[in-house]
Amino acid sequence: MCGIIAYQGVHNADQRIVEGLKHLEYRGYDSWGIAVATATGKMHRKRQVGEIGKVSLKSLNLPEAHIGIGHTRWATHGGVTQKNAHPHFSMNKKIVLVHNGIVENDEVLRKELRKKGYVFQSETDSEVVVNLIENYRKKVSLKEAVRKTMKDIAGRNAIVVLEQDGKELIATRNGSPLIVGVGEKEVYIASDIPAFLEHTQTVYYLDDGQMVVVQEGKPQFFDLTNGKKISRRKITVDIEPEQAEKGSYDHFMIKEIMDQKETTRKAVDQNERQLMEVAKMIKKAYGSFLVGCGSAAAVCKLGEYIFSTVANKHINAVEASEFRHFFGFLTSKSLMIVVSQSGETADVIEAIEVAKKKNVKIIGILNNTNSTIGRLADYVFPIHAGQERAVASTKAITAQFVVMTLLAYAAKGNVLEGKRKLVDVASQMNELLNPRYEKHIQRIARVLKNKEHVYILGRGLNVPVAKESSIKIQEISYIHAESFAAGELKHGPLALVTKGTPVIVLVGKDDTEDEMLSNAKEVKARGGMIIGISPENHSVFDHWLHVPNVGDMSYMVNILPVQLLSYYLGIMKGHNPDKPRNLAKSVTVK
Ligand code: G6P
Repeated sequence: MCGIIAYQGVHNADQRIVEGLKHLEYRGYDSWGIAVATATGKMHRKRQVGEIGKVSLKSLNLPEAHIGIGHTRWATHGGVTQKNAHPHFSMNKKIVLVHNGIVENDEVLRKELRKKGYVFQSETDSEVVVNLIENYRKKVSLKEAVRKTMKDIAGRNAIVVLEQDGKELIATRNGSPLIVGVGEKEVYIASDIPAFLEHTQTVYYLDDGQMVVVQEGKPQFFDLTNGKKISRRKITVDIEPEQAEKGSYDHFMIKEIMDQKETTRKAVDQNERQLMEVAKMIKKAYGSFLVGCGSAAAVCKLGEYIFSTVANKHINAVEASEFRHFFGFLTSKSLMIVVSQSGETADVIEAIEVAKKKNVKIIGILNNTNSTIGRLADYVFPIHAGQERAVASTKAITAQFVVMTLLAYAAKGNVLEGKRKLVDVASQMNELLNPRYEKHIQRIARVLKNKEHVYILGRGLNVPVAKESSIKIQEISYIHAESFAAGELKHGPLALVTKGTPVIVLVGKDDTEDEMLSNAKEVKARGGMIIGISPENHSVFDHWLHVPNVGDMSYMVNILPVQLLSYYLGIMKGHNPDKPRNLAKSVTVK
């Protein structure tokens, strides 16, 4: 959450920073800002409410400078205003800072600073941090001032600081990601690699409790606790910049939906030995947990069902944000399987940190394997989905479904059966995603676009798919979408159905099919409009969205029409499907 980029090097800082911010917008797009320090020791700052996407460098009119910092914000403390946008100056205007995270003891620190005469221009916790630095800086170096400040602040945070003389950039993290990119006579510090990927693939990952000082185009690393110099390993990352572009598509979301033609198949390619080893651990473990947030939490729930049906093994799926209520059940015999696209989700990281203290082994199903979670996990299954830019997850989810399925088949002792079935599913998905199908989806989207509520029903393996479907429709169309286990319908939700209420039913080609169809009839009898997702058209459907018959893997294909439907609903309602209001892709605050 929030994108940070800082630059020092031979090129113009404003150009590199604005370009970097455009790549980081998926982390937050409420407002943005940039500050550069010139060779003559003058600081210049520009901040604006809104997205940076369409802003031209020229319009900023910043002077030549070779050092600077930038930020794209997802508001936590304080509303979406220019005053709350980063970078923030300290009171004497000599220090400027960008910040990602939440300072949990912000109120106490603010009061102390006020007593010392500090006056605040914004409502942000970030301004508290920069003034703490200013206060310490009166007596010590900037590096020491940053170090002392980090000791004072509680919570998960990352900051980059620049002083007016423009001699150095100082950055440090405790819970929020920062990566240092090193190019030809230039250094970048950013929340994520795409910010500078066009210029370098050589990076250093900063870990919690570490600090980097960049002077004259060279980074030096320090331990935050004792200030001593440390060495970090240089890594060349294997990400192609073009993977992150949308090509001929209008939006990343539709491109990523279409990418599933290849990504589903790619996700099947997992290290068999590791699958078997982890499956053995799962079978032996006493208390295993599947942990994730948002769509990844829906994948975890699906995992619970798949493990039960395929491998006769119970694993508990828990949303990471709720996991602390279950910490007490973790022992050295437990296992934690975490699902995360970004590998940076704060609640997931917190759950892992607690589990690790209890010697719990961590298994990551991840897209960004170089992420914080990737580095914390004992075993990593890369989902090979390529970079996902749209805030709403699509191709990462189906790739996570694949890995979860393979793990369950490995636990059953027949990973090859799982692989064979998934390869077949992948080829059938490929055939489905065609322009004619999209046209049909658009027709249904027209029917739904002015509805206020949509309900989605599933049974068994399709209960978590219904949940994921509701998330997709909510975030892209802003229509109230809610999912229910179809059997729960009569226990409350049926009261919501009146004439014309749209209800999407996800039909599984398994022992749930008949019951699902009779639930659809119950809805229809009350005037509901049934949109059926199924390999066959049934008389109860008012509208039919065809999917291939993939037997007991219907969860793999039933999500596809809903992804497309959400996309076209968003388009028809005039939203930007890549950047839903109030949301961000990488949720690095709790
Ligand atoms: C955000 C994204 C979701 C994602 C969730 C968890 O809310 O918009 O698409 O499912 O975070 O993110 P993760 O990176 O851990 O999968």
